[in-house]
Amino acid sequence: MDEITELLEKYNQKKLIKFLNILNEEEKRNLEKQIKNINFEQMMELYNATKKQVTFEEKNIEHVEYTDKSKLTKEEKNELDKIGEEIIKNGKYAVVTMAGGQGTRLGHSGPKGTFEINVNSGKKYLFQIIVEALQRANKKYNSNIPWYIMTSRENNKDTVDFLEKHNYFGYDKNSIKLFIQGELPLVDTNGNLVIGKDKKIKEAADGNGGIYEAMAKGHILEDMEKRGIEWIFVGGIDNVLLNIVDPTLVGLIIKENNLIASKSIVKREPKEKAGVFCKVNGKPKVIEYTELPDELAEQVKEDGELVFGELNILSHLYNIKVLKDLAEVKLKYHTAFKKSDYLDENGNYIEVNEPNVYKFEAFIFDAFERYENMSILRVKREDEFAPIKNKEGVDSPETAIKLYNEKFKIGSEL
Ligand code: UTP
Repeated sequence: MDEITELLEKYNQKKLIKFLNILNEEEKRNLEKQIKNINFEQMMELYNATKKQVTFEEKNIEHVEYTDKSKLTKEEKNELDKIGEEIIKNGKYAVVTMAGGQGTRLGHSGPKGTFEINVNSGKKYLFQIIVEALQRANKKYNSNIPWYIMTSRENNKDTVDFLEKHNYFGYDKNSIKLFIQGELPLVDTNGNLVIGKDKKIKEAADGNGGIYEAMAKGHILEDMEKRGIEWIFVGGIDNVLLNIVDPTLVGLIIKENNLIASKSIVKREPKEKAGVFCKVNGKPKVIEYTELPDELAEQVKEDGELVFGELNILSHLYNIKVLKDLAEVKLKYHTAFKKSDYLDENGNYIEVNEPNVYKFEAFIFDAFERYENMSILRVKREDEFAPIKNKEGVDSPETAIKLYNEKFKIGSEL
């Protein structure tokens, strides 16, 4: 038995062994090369974990302390802004956009950043909206904020081609760097790796928590150090009101002597589908809505607010030290059950209508609990949160456009 067959036998990949036998020499070589790079031990562990029920075990769960931006006095806000502005003006601040997701719910063909919305001030791509926010900040603070974009293997080329075609929307090319996040194979419900149309094992981006490893591997941290960057904002691609340069947040993290900060908004209702900040065993944590039991989700404080009501909007700020620390850390993977067409072991293309494979994703916020504390700045939903997740209904282009138009009224200063 050859080395590859032995390996596949060991991990019960009978379909793959059969499939290898129907390939021509070149196809076989390519697939074998890929197989050699797969960590089967890890994949089997992840597959086995899908069989276990995820139960809520956190007993020591408490609400989180936060600062409400709208309740700061003028003096308090000025003090924070001054600290933050110094950092931005002195070139110590950078922005990272995570754009490696598949955007499956939206169903746009192409990277999500290439999705266009028609707002009152004209048609704008999601990437363009970020560039405009950077340009506004650069004008205000006389800065040249470096912009880093995380893509996936799947969408990197389309992203580069798109940004090139649009000349990076006028942003200084020397201030932009792209980096590619890692991937993990998909696994079917019987633990088989899945074969794609291209006769290779199907792999998918390893979740936005892949950012820490990817920044180190992509030499992004080195680049930041070379430029003297100390504070790094990290956000997603699909929130058209994301406030990527906020001196108040920078001021707060420095004043509170923390290394991680994040923005929250008030949860609309106990069942809103997003994670909330809390403290577990005294450490900061985001708990996904799927993992928060109803009785906790519904708990209210004396003032009527939800105890676990600080919603995570994927608006994070880090000191570079944290990103260096996290480069080597393995975060846990969460499982998603997804639809994926595939080739069977005889090479027949099978289209599916129901979820059939497990996808494994790390979440960026799972790193927070490694730290004693973090700063939370509560902001107003209408100021900073208009995500595009779904084709229609809640968090769709329609709702985002409305919120964008309300915030950026034509004639008002952007
Ligand atoms: P979501 O988890 O909402 O995923 O990403 P998505 O790709 O936008 O949409 P669905 O779930 O497939 O419908 C939140 C942010 O994290 C990024 C996304 O690009 C988005 O900015 N992300 C997500 C990554 O960069 N990589 C990933 O592997 C996953």
